[in-house]
Amino acid sequence: MSKPDSTVEKVVEYTYGTWRFQKGWKPTHIVDAEGVYMTDANGKKYLDFSSQLMCSNLGHKNQALIKAIVDQAQKMPYINPGYSTDLRAKASEALVKVLPAGLEKVFYSTSGTEANEAALKIARMVSKPKGAYKVISRYTSYHGATAAAVACTGDPRRWFAEPTSKVDGTVFAPDCYCYRCPFNQKYPECGVTCAEYLDYMLKNEGNVAAMIVEPVVGTNGILVPVKEYLPRIREITEEHGVLLIADEVMSGWGRTGTWFAVDNWGVKPDILSTAKGCTGAYTPLGITATTKKIADYFQDNYFAHGHTYEAHPMSMAPLVPAIEEYKRLNLFENTKKLGVHTAKRLNELKERHPSIGDVRGIGLFWAVEIVKNRKTKKPFNTRIDKISGTPLMVDKVGAEMGKQGVICNTWISHFVIAPPLIINREQLDSGIDAMDEALKVADKEVEA
Ligand SMILES: Cc1ncc(COP(=O)(O)O)c(C=O)c1O
Repeated sequence: MSKPDSTVEKVVEYTYGTWRFQKGWKPTHIVDAEGVYMTDANGKKYLDFSSQLMCSNLGHKNQALIKAIVDQAQKMPYINPGYSTDLRAKASEALVKVLPAGLEKVFYSTSGTEANEAALKIARMVSKPKGAYKVISRYTSYHGATAAAVACTGDPRRWFAEPTSKVDGTVFAPDCYCYRCPFNQKYPECGVTCAEYLDYMLKNEGNVAAMIVEPVVGTNGILVPVKEYLPRIREITEEHGVLLIADEVMSGWGRTGTWFAVDNWGVKPDILSTAKGCTGAYTPLGITATTKKIADYFQDNYFAHGHTYEAHPMSMAPLVPAIEEYKRLNLFENTKKLGVHTAKRLNELKERHPSIGDVRGIGLFWAVEIVKNRKTKKPFNTRIDKISGTPLMVDKVGAEMGKQGVICNTWISHFVIAPPLIINREQLDSGIDAMDEALKVADKEVEA
């Protein structure tokens, strides 16, 4: 076989494409990214309509973040996490100020997955004296790629890791997914059964250490819970002495118009995990924050966790500038304002396109779910299609958007609209206009 020649050929030959069959992988060659745009090797410019992997909240080439990284590289690119540094002290103090009240001590890692692994391990260590180890999660969720995080992932990416270790003891609770309610009920007459059912589970399951939730479900459909849901989940977990872990890897850092999604409902988790937007994705940083009560437990109990790259100076360098940039650029106001505009525009699209089943979101975090039959809510594709390589309708529509210079992420039956929070109204409209045009492909395939 001849040696790979082009950049794309070499990438495909020598590296794995993630969460996919390797056959047919032909990743676009990107050479530049600035603001809300990226450019390919042919000079074609694309609007980054999903902030890469819903992580580039501050857009590309933010100079304050770049400078902090360069300065840190000059000063001290690495030091053993067993030492104190000014960076670690200053960044942690600034971080605790923006975390939901009550979260007072943090552990640093280098990804969202690791942040959740730490959260789950901490929850289990703290719960060990009472023999509790199980974790409740939900089917419509993603919590990461490694053992514990993938075991409590609800989406089909978990299937490939099974059988997961028995000690994981993961149990799945119903989703707060009103468009496809697992109880086939309607809000508010439902009495928020999806939350109430947790009480039934906890009374019967036994040995539950924690429940992990994405406060606004990300990849799996931007599910914004009804207003009673999270406060009720908090109440029930508290009543049963079960820890609540908020996975804010994607929903944090202004995505919903507040520092963290739980802030929208005033809910205080015992543990919060986050990553992505904490550095605008300029460096890989994961954060696991806990209450003082949890922190106190480890005064006289061994904190059995750590990494060589814990509190890595290069990872942490852009944390303070990122916090400052979110404030200086008034990005949460922009997010809230454009969120109202997005709602209006996407609902207009829904009126025009028979293929749109549901539109939902908050801030700059939106999903457009497409269906083959609006009346029966029959989807174009299923979870099985996703993992068996069946071409998906969302990807066909996504490809049409790509031709128009807009990159929008898709997942089974929906599009994830989550642009960098620095986007302006005109840029946002151009992305929605591209979707408007591209959806004609799906409209043609709806059942009469
Ligand atoms: C809610 C949530 N949790 C955890 C993760 C895993 O984060 P990472 O890919 O950085 O490991 C993701 C990634 O998309 C996520 O969206």
